[in-house]
Amino acid sequence: MSKMGWGLRLMIGCGVMAGAVMAQAADRDAANYAGTKMCGICHKKAESGDQLGVWQKSPHAKAFETLGTPEAKEAAAKLGIDNPQASGKCLKCHSTAYNFTETLAATKIKPEEGVTCESCHGPGKNYMKKEIMQDQAKSIAAGLVHPATDSCTLCHNDQNPTWKADRYTKADGTTTGFDVDQAVKKIEHPNPSAKK
Ligand code: HEC
Ligand code: HEC
Ligand code: HEC
Ligand code: HEC
Repeated sequence: MSKMGWGLRLMIGCGVMAGAVMAQAADRDAANYAGTKMCGICHKKAESGDQLGVWQKSPHAKAFETLGTPEAKEAAAKLGIDNPQASGKCLKCHSTAYNFTETLAATKIKPEEGVTCESCHGPGKNYMKKEIMQDQAKSIAAGLVHPATDSCTLCHNDQNPTWKADRYTKADGTTTGFDVDQAVKKIEHPNPSAKK
């Protein structure tokens, strides 16, 4: 390692990072998506935070709808894409059904549902049983992505044609395209009665 030039070290470093991000997405087996209705069976009670209801009002639930706007059509046209609501190049990040790929992958989820619970928390088929969900280690072993913030930059990156490098302003006044702490606050759906 000590004989390696900085350029090469940097290349290897970046390769490892890109590899880690890809592995995260590749580990998510499309056959294991359960759909928001299943999650909602247990996560829609007001006293435990109504995660289903909070998500339904969040931008992620509208991610497919957004691809039908004039802004989306304009961004797509620049890339030679006619209909963004039918293009894998957009749906890979605007829907869970495409599972981070350019083709429809999950049969239990429709592209129209946008970005659902499982894009952040991982496909739920194997962890959504009550006795597994109550045990964080067992949930993670069964496919729960924890912390869920590990998922954000699979989509919140400069591959989005509407990426704005100055979307977020940090406390020190500098700007960034994605600030995980601020972004999580905008979509948070805590369970007030969960033991911490
Ligand atoms: C049979 C009921 C049930 C179903 C179905 C269910 N959950 Fe849970 N889940 C629970 C319980 C109980 C807990 C533990 C208490 C809590 O944090 O709400 C939990 C906890 C969680 C947590 C916190 C985990 C941790 O340890 O940090 C997440 C995230 C979660 N569920 C997501 C989901 C998602 C996504 C789905 C759908 C794929 C789902 N759940 C389906 C019952 C369920
Ligand atoms: C790499 C993932 C990714 C891809 C690919 C992608 N998007 Fe997005 N898109 C996002 C994210 C993330 C946002 C939310 C804005 C943000 O925080 O950067 C977004 C937001 C948008 C918005 C709302 C305006 C805005 O900037 O908030 C439009 C319109 C849009 N995308 C259109 C498209 C179109 C059209 C395509 C296909 C040509 C596409 N996107 C492909 C991730 C992606
Ligand atoms: C955009 C990503 C994203 C989506 C979509 C999303 N979550 Fe979460 N969720 C998070 C993050 C981030 C946390 C904070 C804890 C963590 O990092 O795991 C969280 C926390 C939770 C918790 C634990 C709450 C607590 O305080 O113990 C539950 C339960 C949960 N989510 C369920 C759901 C369900 C059900 C859906 C769909 C209806 C959903 N989430 C959609 C990102 C997401
Ligand atoms: C599967 C792709 C995907 C993942 C994973 C994802 N997002 Fe998003 N996110 C989007 C898209 C697409 C939009 C644009 C939705 C729209 O405007 O229709 C968006 C919009 C947002 C917005 C509103 C725009 C903004 O930046 O203010 C916030 C906040 C946000 N996401 C936070 C998060 C956080 C926090 C995580 C991780 C816990 C996360 N997202 C994970 C695709 C994703």
